[in-house]
Amino acid sequence: MNIINVNASKDYRVIVGFGILHHLGEQLRTQYTDCKVAVVTDSNVAFHHLAVANESLTSAGFQVHTFAFPAGEPSKTADTFLQILNFLADNHFTRSDLIIALGGGVVGDITGFAAACYLRGIPYIQIPTTLLAMVDSSVGGKTAIDLPAGKNLAGAFYQPAMVLCDIDTLATLPEDVFRDGCAEVIKYGILYDCDLFAHLSEKGFNFDRQYVITRCIELKRDVVAEDEFDTGLRQKLNLGHTIGHAIEANSSYQITHGSAVAAGIAIISRAAAAWQHCTWDTSRRIISVLSAFHLPTKCPFSSEQLYHSMLSDKKRFGKTVNLIIPNAIGNCNIIPVAVEQLQSFIEAGM
Ligand code: GLY
Repeated sequence: MNIINVNASKDYRVIVGFGILHHLGEQLRTQYTDCKVAVVTDSNVAFHHLAVANESLTSAGFQVHTFAFPAGEPSKTADTFLQILNFLADNHFTRSDLIIALGGGVVGDITGFAAACYLRGIPYIQIPTTLLAMVDSSVGGKTAIDLPAGKNLAGAFYQPAMVLCDIDTLATLPEDVFRDGCAEVIKYGILYDCDLFAHLSEKGFNFDRQYVITRCIELKRDVVAEDEFDTGLRQKLNLGHTIGHAIEANSSYQITHGSAVAAGIAIISRAAAAWQHCTWDTSRRIISVLSAFHLPTKCPFSSEQLYHSMLSDKKRFGKTVNLIIPNAIGNCNIIPVAVEQLQSFIEAGM
């Protein structure tokens, strides 16, 4: 079991190991007594993991209330958010009670936002059950819901009280969901850690789960300690995401987030080499590891289509677009690219 301490506006621990869900109640008893626990989850995760979590919590003496919503991004709405708030109010939760977000990114984001808003803030614990949620969304306190105008348009920075990553839960993930998480893991290697990148290149899908998940969380912990509120260096975590979001939008969200990010990373790497930010060898190594994980390195849209959806993403851009550009494996820069140059930059990476 590994423990990572996060120092942000609230300090908390992230625990990474095996069999954690079976000992959830005992684990929480070390920190919480006499409180009610609301477990918020989705229909898929409820099927695989809710019984184990609830059994452990009730055996440890917690009074448990469960709220499960239909799995998937379409549930990440104001409507589900309000249902969670009403569920907490109907069950008389107070600020000395506890919420658990048991699931992937959608569960973590919406539950975290409900925790931030209910009674102006009630403690919550993230128990991520996808690779992507373990290495990214469960750590760092970004919470959100989608609005009809776009994804994650309403939310808050609200740090969890603890994050528990039970590696055993990854065993029930569909292969494509696991692969999506691998794109984010590879991202950390390209951004910050050539040893992590080398391990992923050498081992492929057989990478050491405990080492890799722990290392990604340590890297994210360092970013969050430096820039909790995303005004500077935290932007680097968006490597591949600006183009990735355009790919997702052009596909009407039929291409998954991880696949879109992988293609975004590949495009930005080729463009970086073409514009001499990095060598062609660096770009080739990045594309080769993405391919080894069966992730896409091309997209079915033109640079013009990507450019237009990037421009319509008004949330992000002014006269320049900050792109995260590889310089070498383990070293990337935030480079402002003028909007007029954006399409030719993307074209160079297609
Ligand atoms: N998912 C990117 C971040 O936490 O900033």
